[in-house]
Amino acid sequence: MTTERTLSIIKPDAVQRNLIGAIYQRIETTGLKVVAAKMLHLDAAKAQGFYAEHEGKPFYDGLVEFMTSGPVMVQVLEGDNAIARYRELMGKTNPEEAACGTIRADYAESMRFNSVHGSDSPASAAREIAYFFADDEICPRG
Ligand code: TYD
Ligand code: MG
Repeated sequence: MTTERTLSIIKPDAVQRNLIGAIYQRIETTGLKVVAAKMLHLDAAKAQGFYAEHEGKPFYDGLVEFMTSGPVMVQVLEGDNAIARYRELMGKTNPEEAACGTIRADYAESMRFNSVHGSDSPASAAREIAYFFADDEICPRG
């Protein structure tokens, strides 16, 4: 078992539909711990930098427009194999392909409005956590 941290975002579509609590409940029920959290309204530069790996792809401008359309909840999750476990809890990017019982299957409205983000590797988790949180904003819970 490897204790990991991952970066989770509850995207504007889910915040707007009052799904913060429902998604936190799934995170906690699966055994992952919230060790940092904040609500933010991203500006274009912050969203573009976050999704820099996708710059130039056909969906990039729409993704940035969506991610700046309203507040998001950003949190750091901690637990054994947190990166893969949270990706599994989220379900596939396209909600039509997401497994039953996953967050995206149950809440996402479309590929773009897909309710949640989760880091996809240890390297991206480290980059994404540092993109939003200073070390002293994270509270290890043991
Ligand atoms: P990606 O990193 O591939 O997916 P994930 O969020 O599962 O890691 O893509 C980032 C986001 O870009 C994705 O959550 C939704 C959006 N997106 C589209 O709108 N259209 C697409 O074809 C893809 C691949 C992603
Ligand atoms: Mg991704």
